[in-house]
Amino acid sequence: MRASRAIRARVVHRLLAACFCLLFLAAADAAATEFDYAGAKRCKSCHGKEPIGNQYASWLDTKHAKAYETLASDKAREWAAEAGVDDPQQSEKCVKCHVTAYGVAPERLGSKFKIEDGVQCEGCHGAGNSYRKKKIMMDRDRAVEKGLVLQSEEICVACHNDESPAWDPERYTLEDGTQVGFDYDQAVEAIAHPVPEGYDPTAEGEAD
Ligand code: HEC
Ligand code: HEC
Ligand code: HEC
Ligand code: HEC
Repeated sequence: MRASRAIRARVVHRLLAACFCLLFLAAADAAATEFDYAGAKRCKSCHGKEPIGNQYASWLDTKHAKAYETLASDKAREWAAEAGVDDPQQSEKCVKCHVTAYGVAPERLGSKFKIEDGVQCEGCHGAGNSYRKKKIMMDRDRAVEKGLVLQSEEICVACHNDESPAWDPERYTLEDGTQVGFDYDQAVEAIAHPVPEGYDPTAEGEAD
């Protein structure tokens, strides 16, 4: 009697452990879901319109859009040589911070995705092939479930750090006069691409 109860308890214990293990695996799996990249041209179909604020045009005006091209400049070649790199547009040592989705398997890149587009929308907002539908985009929680990454300084400093040969520890001056290599507020201001106040995504003819 006693023995069988002990066995039963052990079985229950094992089952519980197995359940927790499965739950844990499921959670880990959800966290590791890898979304596919669509490419800036896909975002442009809505975010290239004026009423929503034409974020595409604003982005094109920033150096992020030219970051891959920059790697072909004389300056880039000079720095590459110092780093023992032959062609900066081909070397991980440079490309990883000058494009979006570096090292991502080609089958996760949409037909409109171009490495030449440099640091593009999805480099900051997350791989967007699953959140770019209008219904999802208008619902922040759902968009986040589908891969939208909310903004934080961490995203920027993954590239804006002293591993970059362009790093200047005194690039930004804070209000109190301190100089720093990166200041989130000023840097975001420099690449601003807001949705105009009062924009109504449900208005007829709007982003669809
Ligand atoms: C089908 C149209 C459409 C496409 C395509 C689209 N978006 Fe959107 N997006 C919207 C609309 C509409 C909103 C809501 C704007 C608002 O109401 O402020 C939005 C909001 C956003 C926001 C703000 C989210 C928030 O809640 O803070 C980001 C960031 C964004 N889009 C990025 C992207 C990126 C990156 C792509 C390409 C991968 C993309 N969008 C493709 C229509 C679209
Ligand atoms: C850790 C990320 C990172 C790596 C690695 C990196 N870069 Fe950059 N690079 C940046 C950032 C960020 C900037 C923009 C700096 C700024 O304006 O604040 C930049 C800017 C540049 C510029 C423009 C500088 C200017 O003054 O206009 C060149 C050229 C450049 N990088 C070349 C290279 C080369 C060549 C390599 C490889 C040897 C490389 N980068 C590796 C992040 C990186
Ligand atoms: C994938 C790497 C990467 C990420 C992420 C990134 N940047 Fe950059 N950023 C660069 C590179 C590379 C350049 C320089 C490109 C060039 O000079 O061709 C740059 C340049 C800039 C510049 C100078 C732009 C100009 O047009 O003068 C600003 C400002 C900037 N980044 C702000 C930000 C902010 C804010 C974030 C986060 C929200 C961010 N960056 C995220 C790589 C990155
Ligand atoms: C270098 C990083 C970076 C890139 C590249 C980038 N964004 Fe953003 N985006 C941001 C940040 C940071 C914010 C939040 C700005 C703030 O908090 O004021 C933002 C905000 C937005 C918003 C919401 C604006 C609002 O007023 O609510 C939309 C929509 C958006 N981005 C779309 C895009 C699209 C589309 C592209 C490509 C054409 C793009 N972004 C490229 C960093 C980036």
